[in-house]
Amino acid sequence: MGALAVTGGEKTRTKSFPAWPVFGEREENALIETLRSGRWGMGDRIDAFEKAFGAYQDAEHCIAVMNGTAALEVALKACGVKPGDEVIVPPYTFIATASSVVHVGGIPVFVDVEPDTCNLDPAKVEAAITKQTRAIIAVHIGGRPADLDGIVAVGRKHGLKVIEDACQSHGAIWKGQKVGGIADAGTFSFQASKNLNAGEGGAVVSNNREIGELAWSYHNCGRVKTGAWYEHHVLGSNYRMTEFQAALLLAQMEPLEAQTQTRQANGDYLTKLLNEVDGIETMRADERVTRNAYHLYIFRYKPEAFGGLPKKKFIEALSAEGIPCSSGYVPLYKERAFTVSREYIPFDSAFYGGKVDYAKVSCPATERVCADEAVWLTQRMLLGTKEDVEDIARAVRKVRVNCAELKSL
Ligand SMILES: Cc1ncc(COP(=O)(O)O)c(C=O)c1O
Repeated sequence: MGALAVTGGEKTRTKSFPAWPVFGEREENALIETLRSGRWGMGDRIDAFEKAFGAYQDAEHCIAVMNGTAALEVALKACGVKPGDEVIVPPYTFIATASSVVHVGGIPVFVDVEPDTCNLDPAKVEAAITKQTRAIIAVHIGGRPADLDGIVAVGRKHGLKVIEDACQSHGAIWKGQKVGGIADAGTFSFQASKNLNAGEGGAVVSNNREIGELAWSYHNCGRVKTGAWYEHHVLGSNYRMTEFQAALLLAQMEPLEAQTQTRQANGDYLTKLLNEVDGIETMRADERVTRNAYHLYIFRYKPEAFGGLPKKKFIEALSAEGIPCSSGYVPLYKERAFTVSREYIPFDSAFYGGKVDYAKVSCPATERVCADEAVWLTQRMLLGTKEDVEDIARAVRKVRVNCAELKSL
């Protein structure tokens, strides 16, 4: 029997972390009122939510849609991505960032991330630009804003649109401005795990009037606000949100800012504590990141400091200590969807003259982060007290001190 819980010792923590979602009478009333109103779609609650969420994200235009994947498709169309266009995306993200490009007829081109932020590396974007490139998607992974200065500068230099995939970053702030409306358009998800949650849901935001109007049209069957019901200006689709989603989101927006501040304080405190543990690296400090929304708290485990112990064993040991954690993404270009079942990717389309081959893609920083380093904690774990955060750090330290016990497992 060892000191670690996984080798039979006592757990660092037996209490659970705060539950998610957080809800009560406000949400119950909002849903019942919507039901009784008889207006379940295309009503005032959606309008009110769009106004409130746009204002919260410092964006003049906000279009509510059914989920974050739909938001990406609408944003890509509104930014003029057409069949055969290449769109630069990071491979360290949820599949929707790249699959949405395919679903509007485009080709995702994977460019590596910075290992110490897990966000798209602006220094590597330029080399991937071809005649076919139309746009760049910068994902704010885990809620930490990507380097928008660098990415938007490359985009502007080459006449490309830049979309912020802000699906994980409600309330995140880059240089004093909320993310989403800083580049050309931004997308949000309100899926069940997200920091703002309606089970499912999404939004496109923009500070560009033309993009905002096009996004509205694409999300609503190609209609225009001043037009008739049967008047379709572009080939859009029905990406609309329901009144139930909007009612829940309006209710959930009330505690959003306070929750975001709690996550920020606890996340920053955890960074301070983890920086004291040999073999653990936290994400790079950057003054331009005014606020990380901490949808995920991601830290880097350095196997060499743990005697070469694989990340999988570290995660098992930390989980056994009562700290739920996971390994996160695999590089997207290695997913079967891109390596084998590629029937929807229009490589052979007459529109496309490029030569992307995912078998040849190599993004070393992403591969290292995925295989050996990244460890994820979820946002709800940062909604509690300083003592919760101290438990996380204590457990990590305990695994570090006793890592020799894990070798024989
Ligand atoms: C980075 C990122 N992009 C896009 C999405 C897609 O959002 P949804 O699940 O609401 O379709 C998600 C959500 O999981 C995400 O994390």
